[in-house]
Amino acid sequence: MPGHIGGEGFSAEYPEFRCIAKFDVTEVEGLDDLHMPKEAIKNSLDLLAQAYGAKQSYFLVNGATSGIHSLFMYLGPDAKVIIPRNVHRSVYGGLILSGVHPIYVPSKVNTELGLVLNTDEANIIRTLKQYPEVKAVFLTNPTYYGTTSKIDTIVDTLDKQQMLFIDEAHGGHFAFHPAYPDTALQCGAHAAINGLHKTLPVLTQGACLHINHNFVLADRLFNALSMLTTTSPSYPIMASIDLARSFMQEHGYASLEYARELSIKYRGKMRLIKGITCYGEELKSICGVQGIDPLKILIIIDELTIDGIQLSRILRQNYDIQVEMEGEHFVLAMMSLFHHEEHWNILYKALASIAAQYRSRKKNKKEVASPPEQIMYLTPRQAYFANKKTVSLEESVGMIAGEYIAVYPPGIPCLVPGELINKEMIDYLKYIRTSSLHIQGPYDGSLKTIKIIDQD
Ligand SMILES: Cc1ncc(COP(=O)(O)O)c(C=O)c1O
Repeated sequence: MPGHIGGEGFSAEYPEFRCIAKFDVTEVEGLDDLHMPKEAIKNSLDLLAQAYGAKQSYFLVNGATSGIHSLFMYLGPDAKVIIPRNVHRSVYGGLILSGVHPIYVPSKVNTELGLVLNTDEANIIRTLKQYPEVKAVFLTNPTYYGTTSKIDTIVDTLDKQQMLFIDEAHGGHFAFHPAYPDTALQCGAHAAINGLHKTLPVLTQGACLHINHNFVLADRLFNALSMLTTTSPSYPIMASIDLARSFMQEHGYASLEYARELSIKYRGKMRLIKGITCYGEELKSICGVQGIDPLKILIIIDELTIDGIQLSRILRQNYDIQVEMEGEHFVLAMMSLFHHEEHWNILYKALASIAAQYRSRKKNKKEVASPPEQIMYLTPRQAYFANKKTVSLEESVGMIAGEYIAVYPPGIPCLVPGELINKEMIDYLKYIRTSSLHIQGPYDGSLKTIKIIDQD
């Protein structure tokens, strides 16, 4: 193994593929074993932990998702965990696998920007007081938009037995430059997950999980990780993490500084473009965010005749620019350490030219309706294993949801399996059915029908 024997099995027509395959090896002598690391992999993990200031780090070869699932499996079915509603959908997978009982905290949509840009720490602290039996708090920090919250204030209020876990999927580069937001580990979180492939030169699926010095029972976490990880981990992915770690230790600071300076310069230029607003440091006063990743460029459309979805399409078709995310009233561009000044300039010029072409005197509406409050009848795990049936949306009033439905933006699931579908929820689903918002999750994307728990 592998069957391609060092790339020979791939046609010579694809020399690059053959080249990658040379690194695609398996656990033979000298290459260590991810499930029992003692040699090369152990050394590489120790170096990774050192680089991030962790007690211990683990490779994830199946993305940040597998680290999130492992943390929930570590907690187990008797645990209660506080979770803001705007977490990535892999968290709901973790809830189903583990049986953990979620205590949801509503995510506050900023009314000025129509986005969820931070965690309401005060609400988390209030909820901790209300449920002292809670085992952990699970948060996303930074948000997809690169904004961070004051998570250290949450750490300060935790009891000795309680833990803070952070999905830091988008913050794998923060550790290498002090002017970038503080890392979860620096803020005192017990564990953090970095989706390294998102922001560092790491192959897709390459991620890592760190535990801090205050994390207990690491063996239990390792067992969960090992169970959820393939017995054939990809060596190219693991090697790319090791190479990225080495690169960041040697050149990370300089590269991040270069990118930060470009961000300051070009954000400043983009702010002068009429019809759009490029947000930066002022987000701290507008929404109380703690830190901002300079590599996420949030453009809100104020006075254009086109919406964010059209803007994204024009950028792709006419300027060869792919943005990371778009919504009715915004686009989010994601820059990397490896973009040069010419790339930032191309983005700036494209935005300036489109804004001039589609300028309008009318203010674009930014209000994004928040979903109504949810009422949980079954845990996600109980709901997952229950029988389901499909009914029309109108018929589902008073029933229990059998599927997950999220709307982007604001990126908050309005229904998770096990929650009551009441009249307010039906009205909200009807509203999103007619809007151009992006819907994620349901089997019937048109929302004419919905899966419910079959209670017969
Ligand atoms: C905030 C957040 N967490 C977790 C994930 C899952 O990461 P991965 O795709 O590496 O499994 C994503 C992916 O987009 C994400 O945005």
